[in-house]
Amino acid sequence: MERTLIIIKPDAVEKKATGKILDRFLQEGLEIKALKKFKFNRQQAERFYIVHKDRPFYKELVEFMTSGPVVAAVLEGDDAIKRVREIIGPTDSEEARRTAPNSIRALFGTDKGKNAIHASDSPESANYEIPFVFSQLEIF
Ligand code: RTP
Ligand code: MG
Repeated sequence: MERTLIIIKPDAVEKKATGKILDRFLQEGLEIKALKKFKFNRQQAERFYIVHKDRPFYKELVEFMTSGPVVAAVLEGDDAIKRVREIIGPTDSEEARRTAPNSIRALFGTDKGKNAIHASDSPESANYEIPFVFSQLEIF
């Protein structure tokens, strides 16, 4: 069993896609171990995405992630990190529509920046991201 973090981003929450996205993970056999809606402040979003601090899109990313509420969940299942990355699809939503048309980003994302959902990309990032968002007592 493995755990991963997903964050439904402000664009998808605004589109009222939260329920459909969570249901997709349930249908794929993943279990929701923790769930909450919140809004990142600037410092929190900067720290969450600190690995990207030198990338040209960092400022835009922080602005986007603080632009409205998000919904985060801890998902658990066999090989959850890799499986969830497959279900969300490639970073660029346009590429997702070409190469992975049933992926969450193909269905709910707009472009490379506004791409509907985040998911941990490795055990190391899951180990950083899960306790960043949830305290021990919030995880079932
Ligand atoms: P995420 O971390 O959100 O799950 O996305 P990812 O692994 O697929 O992509 P990553 O390279 O980690 O990028 C993090 C987020 O930054 C925004 N981004 N914008 N405008 C751009 O060129 C660009 N590139 C990345 C996206 O919101 C991406 O998900
Ligand atoms: Mg990433």
